[in-house]
Amino acid sequence: MDEKVRALTAAKSAAGYHAADMVEDGMVIGLGTGSTVYYMIERLSSRVREGLKISGVPTSYQTAMRAREYAIPLTTLDDNPVIDIAIDGADEVGPGLNLIKGRGAAHTREKCVAAAAFRFVVIVDEQKVVPRLGAPVPVEVIPFAVRPVMTQLRGFGCRPVIREGVRKDGPVITDNGNFILDCTFAEIARPAELEAALASVPGVVESGLFTGFADKTTVIVGGEKKCRIVTSADVVP
Ligand code: A5P
Repeated sequence: MDEKVRALTAAKSAAGYHAADMVEDGMVIGLGTGSTVYYMIERLSSRVREGLKISGVPTSYQTAMRAREYAIPLTTLDDNPVIDIAIDGADEVGPGLNLIKGRGAAHTREKCVAAAAFRFVVIVDEQKVVPRLGAPVPVEVIPFAVRPVMTQLRGFGCRPVIREGVRKDGPVITDNGNFILDCTFAEIARPAELEAALASVPGVVESGLFTGFADKTTVIVGGEKKCRIVTSADVVP
C-alpha cells in the first residue's frame, strides 16, 4: 500500500476507534456516514460482541447496511428522537468548529441526527482541519425547484453544479430522493450567515454547512500514533 494511503487509513481508523470507545452502555448513537465512520462501526461492532448494549440511528442507506452487516442494533428518530452521541465524519473543520459535510450526499440526515444529539463527535484526519472553510458546499434541493434554486444561489456569489452520478447516468439522487448542488464560493467569510441564507431559499432541503453545533462538538483528529482532541473550549471567540 502507498505510504500516504497507509497513513491516512491509520489516521481515520484511530479517530473512528477513539470515538467508538467513548460510547457507554445503554446509549443511543447517531451513526454518521462515510469512510471514517466505517472504522467507528467496526470498533463499535466488536464492543457489541463483547456485550455493549446500544442502538444506532443510521444517517444513510450505506451506514444502515454496514451496521446490519456488523450486527449493530438499529433504531429510528421516530423511536428515539433524542440521541446521546452522534458520531460523524466531515469534509472540512474550520475555525469555530464550523464544518462542511456532504461529500457523500448524506448531510441532511446527518444534520437532523446531530441536532437531536446531546453530543456531536466529529472524526477526521489532519488534512480536514483548515484555517478557512473553502470546499464546495453541498446543497440538497428538491428536483422540482433545481433551476430557480440555482439562479438564487448564483446571487449569493457561488457557482452551483448539479452533482453527477458515478456508474449512474445523470444526477446523483440522495437517500431522500433529491438532487445535490455543489456550490463553490470565492470565499466563505461568514459561515453561519451563509448557512441561514441557503436554508431560506424555497426548494433547498439542507446545506452541508454545520455552524450551529460548536458547543456540543468534540473533534477527534486522528493521527498515526495518537489522536488530538479539539472542543469548543479550544475555540478562540
Ligand atoms: C457524508 O455525506 C459526509 O458528510 C461524510 O460524513 C463526510 O464526507 C466525511 O466522509 P469521509 O469520512 O469518508 O471523508
